[in-house]
Amino acid sequence: MEEQWIVIGRLSDIPPRGARVVRRAEGNIAIFRTAGDEVFALDDRCPHRGGPLSQGIVHGTSVTCPLHDWRIDLISGRAIAPDEGCVARYPVRIRDGMVELCVTASALAPEAA
Ligand code: FES
Repeated sequence: MEEQWIVIGRLSDIPPRGARVVRRAEGNIAIFRTAGDEVFALDDRCPHRGGPLSQGIVHGTSVTCPLHDWRIDLISGRAIAPDEGCVARYPVRIRDGMVELCVTASALAPEAA
């Protein structure tokens, strides 16, 4: 199947070190923007108790969950030790200042630690 990318919006619409949520019937996806203007897409559900990761603060390439301060690595989707667990990742890219999410790919498994 050919890859299908949908435009989420301008990179400048996402606050640096913040996130924007893409709502889907299957569950929301959080698109994070780092201070260095990289983007990452993860399920908007903390692996601890389902907190909204999109409302957390991005530090480097991790996000801190607003509920109990677990940190999730945006690159691998894994909780940072000593916490355990992982969250699904999605392909996301920036083209001409627009953020695009691949909707044909199924969720990516967490990267090996
Ligand atoms: S729900 Fe995210 S740290 Fe508890």
